[in-house]
Amino acid sequence: MAAPVVALKTGMLFDTDEQDRDPFGAYIADDAAAAAAQAVARLRGWSTGSIRKGGLPTALRLLGVAPPPRFLILDIEGLPIEEVEAGLTEIARLGTAIIALGAINDVNHFRRIVRAGARDYIVKPVDADALGEALVRLEQPGDAANPAGRLVGFIGARGGVGVTTLAVNAAWIMAEKLSRRTALVDMDLYAGNIALALDIEPTRGLREAFDDPERVDEVFLQNAMAKFGKSLHVLATEEDFDDAVRMTDDKVLMLADTMRANFDMTILDVPRHFVMREPQLFSRFDELVIVAELTLQALRDCNRLTKLLQARNRQMKIQIVANQTTSKPDVSVKEFETGIDGKLRCVFPHDPKTFAAAGIKGRALAGHKPKHRIVADLHRFCIELAGVPEEPRQGFFRRLGKR
Ligand SMILES: Nc1ncnc2c1ncn2[C@@H]1O[C@H](COP(=O)(O)OP(=O)(O)O)[C@@H](O)[C@H]1O
Ligand SMILES: [Mg+2]
Repeated sequence: MAAPVVALKTGMLFDTDEQDRDPFGAYIADDAAAAAAQAVARLRGWSTGSIRKGGLPTALRLLGVAPPPRFLILDIEGLPIEEVEAGLTEIARLGTAIIALGAINDVNHFRRIVRAGARDYIVKPVDADALGEALVRLEQPGDAANPAGRLVGFIGARGGVGVTTLAVNAAWIMAEKLSRRTALVDMDLYAGNIALALDIEPTRGLREAFDDPERVDEVFLQNAMAKFGKSLHVLATEEDFDDAVRMTDDKVLMLADTMRANFDMTILDVPRHFVMREPQLFSRFDELVIVAELTLQALRDCNRLTKLLQARNRQMKIQIVANQTTSKPDVSVKEFETGIDGKLRCVFPHDPKTFAAAGIKGRALAGHKPKHRIVADLHRFCIELAGVPEEPRQGFFRRLGKR
């Protein structure tokens, strides 16, 4: 059965709505584990029809023809670790949260499995309690395998390049397509546009967080953040311009750390003046996405930002994307890449009509037009930002898929 494997290989992305997606699925080789999965499914009112015999190789053959479930339990017992890693990465990239089941009780083994893209690993024999607890952990922030979430900043090389637009859509994809508990934070307390873009009421949450950072905990966040869809939580404020909010390094850092502890993914829409005023914030980012347009000015500012910010945080991965690109840009993609001495991670076209239509509806483009090229490219990028490893080498995958 080669066809589904090919679908997987090309990194096929599914454009289905969340409603069309099974909440869970399982590919299990032994009876005891299958019984545990059935018990958990019944308890949660999920169909037991999505529990199938066979482990990871079967999943690789069958997935790819239908959208992946939100949670996927995968039996990896008896398979060579290299094949397990390749297979898990391939499936994780479809945007499903994997719980692997295996027989080897060893920390290194656990680490390799999680690094390959699984969210948790349970050593057999498993019972319903162990499986149920693992699912609960995945639904909560800071699950066992990923005790700390990831912090990704979005910033513009210039104003108006589409930072907010891309941050909002990335957060939407993280939550709805990749099943990550996601926070989207508009760091511009005065003139942020996130509340407007998603058509939600701004809250005073961020302001209160800066006024009294000690108070910021899980309960505070639950009350202060607007919930959007299944697992997107938004912190967006519209303070009066004359109402000065004092941010200090400690406060900014405390906020960043609280977000990391409470969410799988935190996406921050960062105003450019933070580079000067809140330099400490950048020290906490796992990744920074610089949004640019294909102009000389943007090229120059990209390089200046990259140099400065990379010096502040050497661990941070910086990715540059071009947005609003037209067929005849001032600077070509090639010239731009020569100028930044690297690759543009994405090149998004200028499509004012579509954005205007989504904007009028108060919807993220990713929800409004899931098949749009920008959404598909951003989805691939988000898989990487969520920490799922790059695609494995082909050889391993082929062997595994053909079993
Ligand atoms: N690829 C694109 N094509 C067309 N319009 C876009 C694109 N990306 C963003 N926009 C529009 O550009 C405007 C500015 O975007 P915004 O995200 O607010 O920029 P920034 O946050 O960088 O100031 C918005 O009206 C948005 O809809
Ligand atoms: Mg903005």
